[in-house]
Amino acid sequence: MKLKILVTAGDGIGPEVTNEAVAVLRETAALGGHDFTFMEKRIGGVAIVADGTPLPQDTIDAALASDAVLLGAVGGNEFNSLPPDKRPEGGLLAIRAALGGFANLRPCFSFKELTVNSPLRPEVIEGTDIMFVRELLGGAYFGKPREWNKVSGEAWNTMRYTRDEVARVARIAFQLAQKRRKKLTSVDKANVLEVSQLWRAAVTEVAQEFPDVALEHQYVDAMAMHIMNRPRDFDVVVTENLFGDILTDESGVITGSLGMLPSATIGGKVNLYEPVHGSAPDIAGKGLANPLGAILTGALILRHTAGLEAEAAAIESSVRKVLEQGFRTPDLARGNKEGLTVLSTTEIGAKVRETVKTLLVDA
Ligand code: NAD
Ligand code: IPM
Ligand code: MN
Repeated sequence: MKLKILVTAGDGIGPEVTNEAVAVLRETAALGGHDFTFMEKRIGGVAIVADGTPLPQDTIDAALASDAVLLGAVGGNEFNSLPPDKRPEGGLLAIRAALGGFANLRPCFSFKELTVNSPLRPEVIEGTDIMFVRELLGGAYFGKPREWNKVSGEAWNTMRYTRDEVARVARIAFQLAQKRRKKLTSVDKANVLEVSQLWRAAVTEVAQEFPDVALEHQYVDAMAMHIMNRPRDFDVVVTENLFGDILTDESGVITGSLGMLPSATIGGKVNLYEPVHGSAPDIAGKGLANPLGAILTGALILRHTAGLEAEAAAIESSVRKVLEQGFRTPDLARGNKEGLTVLSTTEIGAKVRETVKTLLVDA
């Protein structure tokens, strides 16, 4: 099959991790006889410097003409004093809006080999398999009015949702739950916020279309605790934009590192794929970044855009096998390093490619 992928690598470790993800995708496509082409465009801080805007029109046009967009990460400390829409992060929100995907799937599962890397006890996290569905186009990120009024010394954002915006993301979450363990947890703050009361009512209404899925509601503060205490109890978790942002970084504690988490945004014109982590300025340019979250994001392109399930699974198995063989990036090798080989970003990427080759050629 033919697939046109736009790569927007962005800032910091973005280019380092997307290089590895693209190399794995190229290898996988070649082995399966598929024709994948990759084009690169600027977004974020690199685009501010080169083009004077965090999201050039040229990048939007190329994204809309692609089958999938793979984004690295955006952001850098030198842009921190800019207003939100002028910052690198503003470019990310603008490309999300332009592509229209409203359901951001953020799977979190514990790799057996990495349980020791988590501050949580192995018996608490082993076997965790949660699919977070984060609403991506609404809530405080996009709600108006929003302003920092420097004269009055006030600032405000608006957490806004319509019933339909909640229903459409809830429907995706229920459909995913139907194919999994048939349990959906909806997370809100309906004890305090009207917008959450609407959220809860809309999710409850959609539940009538899915009688085979067990629905529960949790408040976000309690949920932040439950996913640390008993992560295995959750199957699909659906929540609004800001709560989903926070809970999914927290879920990186379960996988052992934020650098392990992939994501796929579906429901719009073109799917957008990004690892959950940011540009990590503290480790950028040193070969220390963990590219496995970006590589697993590549697997999600194969699953959700290309429909190449066997190839997606081969990438995921390869990541698992590389970990089984004791290969780690530094973030995955905290504490006792006995029996482990600590590799750079490019070295661990090469290990994944070698393993994909073995799996797909032997199959
Ligand atoms: P971050 O995710 O960049 O980093 C948080 C911590 O995790 C850091 O210690 C970092 O070194 C570590 N880390 C993250 N990814 C890693 C990886 N792949 N391998 C190893 N370690 C990794 O979050 P932050 O420091 O709060 O933000 C830095 C910048 O990134 C900010 O400008 C922020 O707005 C931006 N950001 C962008 C995205 C995105 O583009 N999708 C996501 C989150 C944050
Ligand atoms: C993420 C990031 C982004 C978000 C920022 C950089 C705009 O934290 O993808 O999780 O908050 O959505
Ligand atoms: Mn985030």
